[in-house]
Amino acid sequence: MTGTTGVATDSGTGAEQALRPHAEDAFAAELKALDAADDRPRPARWNLSPWAVATYLLGGTLPDGTVITPKYVGPRRIVEVAVTTLATDRALLLLGVPGTAKTWVSEHLAAAISGDSTLLVQGTAGTPEEAIRYGWNYAQLLTNGPSRDALVPSPVMRAMAEGRIARVEELTRIPADVQDSLITILSEKTLPIPELGAETQAVRGFNMIATANDRDRGVNDLSSALRRRFNTVVLPLPASAEDEVDIVTRRVDQLGSGLDLPAVPDGATEIRRVVTVFRELRGGVTEDGRTKLKSPSGTLSTAEAISVVTNGLALAAHFGDGVLRAGDVAAGILGAVVRDPAADRLIWHEYLETVIRERDGWKDFYRACREVSA
Ligand SMILES: Nc1ncnc2c1ncn2[C@@H]1O[C@H](COP(=O)(O)OP(=O)(O)O)[C@@H](O)[C@H]1O
Ligand SMILES: [Mg+2]
Repeated sequence: MTGTTGVATDSGTGAEQALRPHAEDAFAAELKALDAADDRPRPARWNLSPWAVATYLLGGTLPDGTVITPKYVGPRRIVEVAVTTLATDRALLLLGVPGTAKTWVSEHLAAAISGDSTLLVQGTAGTPEEAIRYGWNYAQLLTNGPSRDALVPSPVMRAMAEGRIARVEELTRIPADVQDSLITILSEKTLPIPELGAETQAVRGFNMIATANDRDRGVNDLSSALRRRFNTVVLPLPASAEDEVDIVTRRVDQLGSGLDLPAVPDGATEIRRVVTVFRELRGGVTEDGRTKLKSPSGTLSTAEAISVVTNGLALAAHFGDGVLRAGDVAAGILGAVVRDPAADRLIWHEYLETVIRERDGWKDFYRACREVSA
């Protein structure tokens, strides 16, 4: 797919060499198997039917025995609504607290539908209108004046022309006037180019997935005009500790194999402990519901749990005996919990001394945490 569609990469074997291959490359075999097995109707320019896209995200086994790994662990209905939205004329807004897989789901949806997850605009306070519309190649512009050749299309403009999915990350961080340039694109499905007296019309297959952080609300709230163009799907935090352990184990395994780290045994004790600590502090109550806790300022998201465990695994591999132990995750947990040195440290100490210390079978964990907290 290099060259014609996605961002040009300079090596032919980019997929295996890249530090972080795009979803469409990393899961090319699964996508191919789904394509072969998929006999349901596909919306215009979709690589797969909505059913196959949902199966790609949620996992399953195909009639020929091919196993599709679950990418997203969560309510099936959420994925079905998200996929269906993209087959309509409304765009999809994935909303949620940090670390609920908004970016992850967006990338996989684009990969499965368009075979290209790279038509991406990263939203920041400094995102200019050109990042959403188009810019100019100034050398060309000065010599030849405004022309199609001098125009540098944005990823959104390319998605419109090619009938693919465009992605906008962190939509609410983009200044309101720049956000507004999306209204015409999403409602009229056209991008006017006044300098050329022309326009780019979106072809069928074009749609957009935006992500936004729940906690950013109020930073640059979406205008109601723009919000109406989107169907909002809220990605929840994992419902149960089991789900969260499952997500962390899967992702750590995938990330770890890319880094040549040892595999984690299923239900590894330390993963369960990291997840327990995160869930308890996040929820403000112990698992048994008996003790109320204060929540620290950090999000303690699933994504952070994944990185604590991955770092722990690297410590175990390089400086330990290869087995993930309490001492390998303790420093990472502390770093995730104590963001505000004063307030969070107090909260952590109270939790450590009243909950972790008293918990059966957690002595080694308590000691490891004490050691790094001193
Ligand atoms: N429900 C989930 N299912 C699968 N992976 C998840 C889930 N929640 C979080 N993750 C993992 O967390 C990591 C970070 O997610 P990300 O998409 O960056 O979060 P967000 O964009 O919502 O802040 C990803 O590696 C993703 O695999
Ligand atoms: Mg994100």
